[in-house]
Amino acid sequence: MSKHNLTTAAGAPVVDNQNVQTAGPRGPMLLQDVWYLEKLAHFDREVIPERRMHAKGSGAFGTFTVTHDISRYTRAALFSQIGKKTDLFLRFSTVAGERGAADAERDIRGFAVKFYTEEGNWDLVGNNTPVFFLRDPLKFPDLNRAVKRNPYTNMRDANANWDFWTLLPEALHQVTIVMSDRGIPSSYRHMHGFGSHTFSLISAKGERHWVKFHFHTQQGIQNLSDAEAEKLVGQDRESAQRDLLESIDRGDFPRWTMYIQVMTEAQADACPFNPFDLTKVWSHKAYPLIEVGVLELNRNPQNYFADVEQAAFNPANVVPGISFSPDRMLQGRLFAYGDAERYRLGVNHHLIPVNAPRCPFHNSYHRDGAMRVDSNAGATIGYEPNSQGKWQQQPAFDEPPLALQGGAYHYDFRADDDDYYSQPGALFRLMTPAQQQVLFDNTARAMGGVDEAIKRRHIANCAKADPAYGAGVAKALGLTV
Ligand code: HEM
Repeated sequence: MSKHNLTTAAGAPVVDNQNVQTAGPRGPMLLQDVWYLEKLAHFDREVIPERRMHAKGSGAFGTFTVTHDISRYTRAALFSQIGKKTDLFLRFSTVAGERGAADAERDIRGFAVKFYTEEGNWDLVGNNTPVFFLRDPLKFPDLNRAVKRNPYTNMRDANANWDFWTLLPEALHQVTIVMSDRGIPSSYRHMHGFGSHTFSLISAKGERHWVKFHFHTQQGIQNLSDAEAEKLVGQDRESAQRDLLESIDRGDFPRWTMYIQVMTEAQADACPFNPFDLTKVWSHKAYPLIEVGVLELNRNPQNYFADVEQAAFNPANVVPGISFSPDRMLQGRLFAYGDAERYRLGVNHHLIPVNAPRCPFHNSYHRDGAMRVDSNAGATIGYEPNSQGKWQQQPAFDEPPLALQGGAYHYDFRADDDDYYSQPGALFRLMTPAQQQVLFDNTARAMGGVDEAIKRRHIANCAKADPAYGAGVAKALGLTV
């Protein structure tokens, strides 16, 4: 049989793919047309749930190359020597829109990297912003309800969006970034990426350092104004997908320089703010950027569904030498991703090629489950301890203990630190007058139609960051305060 011949899923020849079987030339269809039944039954099940957020995205394969030695901070094999290369997959996304949303929206961008290291997959599931709206993961579903569609109108709801944001003053830093001139990157290639959270690095000596990950675009930052984005969306809803795909196809491979910021445990103890607070950045002066390597995207997936739609990133995927921190947002994410992916893709989603580790791995301790399509470990026993010495845990990769304080309780993070204004104020003062005006105007457009009380609440929050910020937004909104 030629490789071009059509068969059923069971491998038998399909004799007619144009006409269903009918009883007579003008008669009804026959149930015995099993090819029709198979074809339609498969088609009826082709849609899988989209990601609850970050549903619209683009992905590509690439390589990470170490250019500077950080092995004094981490035992992670991918950073073990200069020149070392590690394969990776990166998925970019917008956050609030659904799978068919236009790319050029004012929104955060996802920047999720899966490093296929020799010691397992490391997923750094970040954004194009160094901070986030929230400090507690209990509020994450509320954030999504506020930015997604209104249950009655089924339309995006600026009133709900701004009602929620303005009631959480810790959101102001992120809101300031999203409303700034950086709020609509011109493409995925022209923006930075950030791990955002504080993570930890563990050295071969068992020392822990706190760390932030940064990826600076080598293409340069480029953004769209609201007017440019509006025009672009009218012409091309897939502008970021097109840009990424075409640049890689023509051999113009996008690159980012990776940096880390490092804080010792003693520095963290003495830090005037909570260094595990995701709404705050670490000053580059106090914690300078340390160059690490280059991330390059150089291969487009051959099949979007196989690799991009089925990609499953999980902040819980770390490798020896890289680990978590007490940031309660990061802790909350450690549960949510795998749980979402067991629902979205199934319990064996880690076996899908784009998600499977590239190193030898022994995941067959997990057994069975829907869509187990490898050998399922054949005849190998699945219990431990056993007399065959199989499935040995690996204590050599354990981390040093983390000292903790205090009893178990629902601690209000605001009692620990409620300064939500210094950093957005500092960011505002870093902007040129022209950039500040863009911030005022973008905010005013985004708040159009929002209740006056909510507008005034936002103006009051901005004024606490800087009186000129509050005054500028008030003027752009046509309000006197
Ligand atoms: C996607 C939960 C905060 C970046 C997702 C998904 C869930 C989720 C359930 C869908 C996963 C999937 O279906 O594969 C949460 C929760 C958060 C949180 C509960 C806070 C408590 C964050 C933060 C960042 C982030 C702070 C960035 C710093 C992303 C990205 C994706 C994503 C980039 C898309 C990954 C991809 O391309 O497949 N999030 N998230 N999220 N999240 Fe979060």
